[in-house]
Amino acid sequence: MKDKLFARKNITHFNNEIESSQLKRTLGKWSLMALGIGAIIGAGLFVRTASAAANNAGPAVTIGFIIAGIGCAFAGLCYAEFASMIPIAGSAYTYSYATMGEFVAWLIGWDLVLEYALGAATVGIAWSEYLNKFLFQFFHVSIPYQFYHSPFEHINRVVGDAITQFPADMIAKAKEGVLILTDKELSSLPANLASAVSIVHGVINIPALFIIFALTLLLIRGMKESSFVNGLIVITKVAIVILVIALGWSYMNPVNHTPFIPAAQEYVDAQHVSHNYGGWLGIFGAAGVVFFAFIGFDAVSTAAQESKNPQKDMPIGILGSLAICTVLYILFSYVLTGLASVEDFRTQGKEASVVFAIQHYMPGYEWLAKCVTVAILAGFSSVILVMLMGQSRVFFSMSRDGLVPKMFSDVHPKFHTPYKSNILFLGFVGIFAAFVPGDIVGDMTSIGTLFAFILVCAGVWVMRVKQPELPRKFKTPLVPLVPILGIGVCLLMIYGLGWPNWVRLGVWMVIGLVIYFAYGIKNSKLREGNK
Ligand code: ALA
Repeated sequence: MKDKLFARKNITHFNNEIESSQLKRTLGKWSLMALGIGAIIGAGLFVRTASAAANNAGPAVTIGFIIAGIGCAFAGLCYAEFASMIPIAGSAYTYSYATMGEFVAWLIGWDLVLEYALGAATVGIAWSEYLNKFLFQFFHVSIPYQFYHSPFEHINRVVGDAITQFPADMIAKAKEGVLILTDKELSSLPANLASAVSIVHGVINIPALFIIFALTLLLIRGMKESSFVNGLIVITKVAIVILVIALGWSYMNPVNHTPFIPAAQEYVDAQHVSHNYGGWLGIFGAAGVVFFAFIGFDAVSTAAQESKNPQKDMPIGILGSLAICTVLYILFSYVLTGLASVEDFRTQGKEASVVFAIQHYMPGYEWLAKCVTVAILAGFSSVILVMLMGQSRVFFSMSRDGLVPKMFSDVHPKFHTPYKSNILFLGFVGIFAAFVPGDIVGDMTSIGTLFAFILVCAGVWVMRVKQPELPRKFKTPLVPLVPILGIGVCLLMIYGLGWPNWVRLGVWMVIGLVIYFAYGIKNSKLREGNK
């Protein structure tokens, strides 16, 4: 049994697979870096920064970005060594198959569903917030709350003249004729005022479902076309981030940055979820939340089979995109938390926070707010695209190994893409996008990815000890120090994400184990070959 569970793929095995693969090789180093940035900058920066500031760390979310960036740099160095050594689709899944054997490979492949599929759902949900903003900015129409929120979300809202009857401190918080109250504020109101508050519950997130559907179709159409669209979007997205930093800098209000690290306290959000706000625990929590913003550089490694010169270009693609994004994130989060207050991010500025901050604290920059909305809509699309692609590629590899059914590696006769897999994941991702709140799916994505990073860091170390003679075009410096530090920082962020997320990760992995022992272990091609 032990031999079977820990059966490893030989590296030469991969070369045969590369030869027999039907995927087209179209991506060079710039396309790979663009693919990375396309996957990296997205909802993590434009949505989760505000949420981490509101729930976890206030302005110290910037320190959270630094910690998350450091963790990703260590893990990125490990990813780069693997990607240069085993240039085949499948990312961390493939690497662990070669190093730690089939069982660990299964765990990681299954875990990557959290990263890619739920990541796509999270960004889809964020896309719907900005779509609503877009419709309002350009056409003065809004999507009804219930049709762009999950059934687990609600809002306590007072509109129009009724606001004038409320206590002065509440009236002061009203913006654009709308007052949003927390549950705590609502429960403290006398009956006559409480009756003026309408509590609206979400039903389904239709825009999130729509964007996942549209991008799945684009993906099925083919990589080359998708990569071209992605290149255009990446340029726009980076330009917008730089513009917000440069123009917003002089509008920052020092009061919003004071104190920079809030005192440790409990904060209960509108969905009754309690958070460790402030102090170092809050900062680690924020790091875990905004870690989401870095996810994606590893998606580059899933495109190795479509890369023209993987040995040389993969490390450049991974580390280059990571470095550029880290610098932008630190500056951007500093500016955003300087523009608007934590209170804003907890109420009116909770959704589409960047546009909110520009509209309310940068007078005369309505044009920038409009550009940001458009760029974000396009930018999020490119993230979702890469996530969906990564997901189908991981299952492509797993399917060729016999660990999941063959349909996941069936390639379209004309487009050469794993279309059946794309369609199945459309259903899976769509359910989460339509019915689960963004914060929950986002945290599940973060914790799943952190777990994958830990296994990759461990894998590089194991591989150096077990097969030191294998050629590596890129070598992780200071092994085992860098992998150990990578594991340490990732564990710290997992800790910061709190027990509900540990439980969610545990449940998901248990489901994976059941499937492995019921299906994967019996159908594994490697074990067939070993018989
Ligand atoms: N890093 C990606 C984002 O922030 C997943 O949207």
